[in-house]
Parts: sequence; C-alpha cells; structure tokens
Amino acid sequence: MDQADPFGFIGLTYDDVMLLPGHTDVIPSEADTSSRLTRRIEVSTPLLSAAMDTVTESRMAVAMARQGGLGILHRNLSIADQASQVDLVKRSESGMVTDPVTTTADATVAEVDALCGHFRVSGLPVVDQAGVLVGIITNRDMRFVSPFEKATTLVRDVMTKAPLITGRQGIDPDDAIAIFAQHKIEKLPIVDEQGRLTGLITVKDFDKSEKYPNATKDPAGRLRVGAAIGFFGDAWQRATSLLEAGVDVIVVDTANGDSAGVLDIIRRLKRDSAFEAVDIIGGNVATRSGAQALVDAGADAIKVGVGPGSICTTRVVAGVGVPQVTAVYEASLAAKPHGIPVIADGGLQYSGDIAKALVAGADTVMLGSLLAGCDESPGDLVFVNGKQYKNYRGMGSLGALQTRGEKTSYSKDRYFQSDVPSDDKLIAEGIEGQVPYRGPLASVAYQLAGGLRQSMFYTGARTIAELKEKGRFVRITAAGLKESHPHDVQMVVEAPNYRR
Ligand code: XMP
Repeated sequence: MDQADPFGFIGLTYDDVMLLPGHTDVIPSEADTSSRLTRRIEVSTPLLSAAMDTVTESRMAVAMARQGGLGILHRNLSIADQASQVDLVKRSESGMVTDPVTTTADATVAEVDALCGHFRVSGLPVVDQAGVLVGIITNRDMRFVSPFEKATTLVRDVMTKAPLITGRQGIDPDDAIAIFAQHKIEKLPIVDEQGRLTGLITVKDFDKSEKYPNATKDPAGRLRVGAAIGFFGDAWQRATSLLEAGVDVIVVDTANGDSAGVLDIIRRLKRDSAFEAVDIIGGNVATRSGAQALVDAGADAIKVGVGPGSICTTRVVAGVGVPQVTAVYEASLAAKPHGIPVIADGGLQYSGDIAKALVAGADTVMLGSLLAGCDESPGDLVFVNGKQYKNYRGMGSLGALQTRGEKTSYSKDRYFQSDVPSDDKLIAEGIEGQVPYRGPLASVAYQLAGGLRQSMFYTGARTIAELKEKGRFVRITAAGLKESHPHDVQMVVEAPNYRR
C-alpha cells in the first residue's frame, strides 16, 4: 500500500448525511421527478426494482413500469424462462399489439384457456395457416363450455366467425375508440389487404393508458423492461434471446463490474449492431476508476454499489466495499462528464435516501428490500407470530447460489465462482431473510416518490436536475441520527412510510 495518507479517505453513507433545507417556492405536487435511466431512456419516477429472484419477475416489472419506473428481471432462471418473462411484460400493455398471440380453428378450448391464462388475456384472434383472420374467441364464447368438455371442444365450434369488425393498418387511436363504442366490442383485429392479421388493439390498453399516465413505455406504447445477464458461459446467448423477446435494457449484473469479463461483454454488445436498439447497463462498481472503466467500455449507465445491500455480506466476508454515498459520488465524477447516468444500487432504507442518492450523483436508484414485501414480488406470504412477511434473499446467499440450471448455478458467476466444483466450496456473500409484507407496489411506489417530492420541496428543486444542482449535504453524528428518527416515544401506529 503506497497511499500517502492511508486512512484519510472517509466513506460516508445515507445515515451519515442529511440534505440542507433551502429557500423554496416549490410545492411537492409541482415537483417533476423524471430522470434519466440510461443514455437514451427516461423514466418519470427514478425507481428500479432489483434483479433478484425474490424481487423482480414479470409481475413486478409490469407494476414498476406502470408506476413510471422500471423492473430488471433477475437471471436466476433458464434463458427461455427469462425471455418468456420479457415477452409477458411486452405483451401486457400496448398501443397496438403487433404480433398478437393467436390460435387456430382446430385448437381445443382447453388450449385457448391455457394460453389466455399464461398471457393474462381474455381472448385470441383465430387464424388459418396463411395467417388470415378467420374468427375470434373470447371469454364470452367459452363461457358455456363446461370444464369437462373443454379438452374436446374445438375453437371452430364456439368462436365468433369472420367477417368480423376489423381495423386497417395505421388506424388512428380515436377511430379505434369510436369503433369500440359503436360496435360494443373490446378487441379490434387489424388486418392487411389480404385479410391477414397484422395486429390487435384492445379496449383494456386504452383503459390502462388512462390509469397509468406516467408509465415507462417504448415508442410502440409497450411497457419497457430490463433484464440481467452475466458475462460467463451462455451470457451472449441469454442476451440474444432477451433481445429477440423485445427487452429494452440489458444489465450486465455482477458483484464487480471493473473486471475483464464484464468490460469485454459490454464492449462486444455495444459493437454489435444487432443490439443497437437496446441500452446496456454495467455494474457494479464503487470507485471512480471502476466507473471510468465502464464508461470506457461504452456502458449506457453505470450501476454503483459494492456491499450496501440489506442482505449483502460482501463487506464483512471480503472486507471490501465503499459506503454508498461516497461510492455514488466518486462514480458520478467519472460518469457525469460523459453524460452517462448513474444508478445507486442497494442500501436505501427510507424514501429520504432517494434524494440523498440523487444529490450524491445518482440519476436513479435500485431497490431490493423496500420492494421485496410487495404483492408483485415472487413468493408467497409467510406468517410469523401472526404478522405477514415475504422471503427476501441475497443473490449471493447459499440458497440463490445453489439454484441451478442444466449444468451450473446461474448466480455463481455474479460472484465470479463459476469454476467452484461443489456447493460446499461456495463462498456466500449474502443472507436469506424476510421483510414485512407491504401490500401493492402502487402504494409503496407512491410513498417513495412522494418522499422524493417532499425532499424537492425542502430543497427548492422543481426538477431532478435542480435537486442535483442545489442539494447540499451536512454530515451528521450518531446523536444526529438518533435525533432524526422518532425518539423518546413508544410508536403505537405504524406510518405507511416508516418502520424501524
Ligand atoms: P437492498 O438494500 O435494496 O439491496 O436490499 C439490493 C441490492 O443488493 C445487491 N445484492 C447483493 N449484494 N450479496 C451482495 O453483496 C448478495 O447476496 C446480494 N444480492 C443482491 C444487488 O445489487 C441488489 O440490487
């Protein structure tokens, strides 16, 4: 070690600092929380759900995008399963579905039922071998088929047969709404001049657009979604399948992004024109030089966090990491001059930490424990002493490391242990636990974004750019932290945004 002042570099985290209040003429409801996720993608709420198997699968990703954030699908599952989750999100909501799920007249009602259940849709267009629309089958058509007859009843016997009310390609949304109203229908198949099905517009999609005006969407009106990959083994194949399924953002998700394998796959993805439409996030790093390496490799956003997570043990197992506010600040010094957004990943406990992360230099934050208790996270409710919890585990926990595909564990390469031959030789860097049940994501996200708006009011910031520019920190002591939390009273009613 040749550092001149080896212990002079102090690392601070969320609980070490507070934001100074400043003159304000902003009320919280006026604050605009939109921010940059990557070089090309904006979000209206700067929240991401973590790529963890107890946090983000398709349900969470749909819910996050509807709230104006983004979900990153975890990679502790087969390539086919992860790609199918991307597909589910991309199909969940759309201006127009360009490749609708279809069935044929010879399929059985049971098969249609299964498809509708999987894709959470209420009916399917029926096409012939040439793709020509020959009918439509919806819940209404299947209602009177008894459960015993579903496996033997053919679609042709119950479907609504062509000619159907259809729309032409490029139809104006207002014209589609008029057709729905005039004909009292809920699905409008779009056909070309030969009568071949080219798309589908549904009433539900219009309803959802009204209900979630700030949703994170692609130019075709579909919800956006991200997905994690590694850098080892079949990582390239995974990236390709995710791309084919329509993923918007790929996150090269590892515990140490400043490493040859990670930088190499980012470079390759950025060079390959097939991936032109997808933004690539690299991580994780916790230093300026680590962030610089990702910038140089071409990453479209830098994910920061080595060991801050609620379930992480990296800092005690390896003795490595940087307290998160300092890590984010240092990384931003490398990323900002290049206009590359920074993601503060892990360690956030309260809504107030979001503004602290943004002022330190982040553009968005990634959350694990704060979201793992939501209805939309994978896993069932667990009852402990009459209270409701959900399981939450680190991707470096033994349980996650031992989840395996055909040949190896998916999670092992996140911790650079793909070469470890047996489970008893794994070095865990996370724990398995439980978090309190928190209800639907919509209420949790509302409180988190609401907390951020309060921060913006106190600091006099109308936009995230202003918050980052005007925000100033004061360092606090242990006494200051104690004073910051409720003290000297017995809490009798839990607030929706505060738990100890
Ligand atoms: P929070 O604090 O939001 O953190 O629960 C979520 C982030 O933690 C990271 N992560 C891990 N880090 N060991 C680690 O050192 C682990 O087992 C582990 N699992 C997840 C990850 O960056 C996530 O977004």
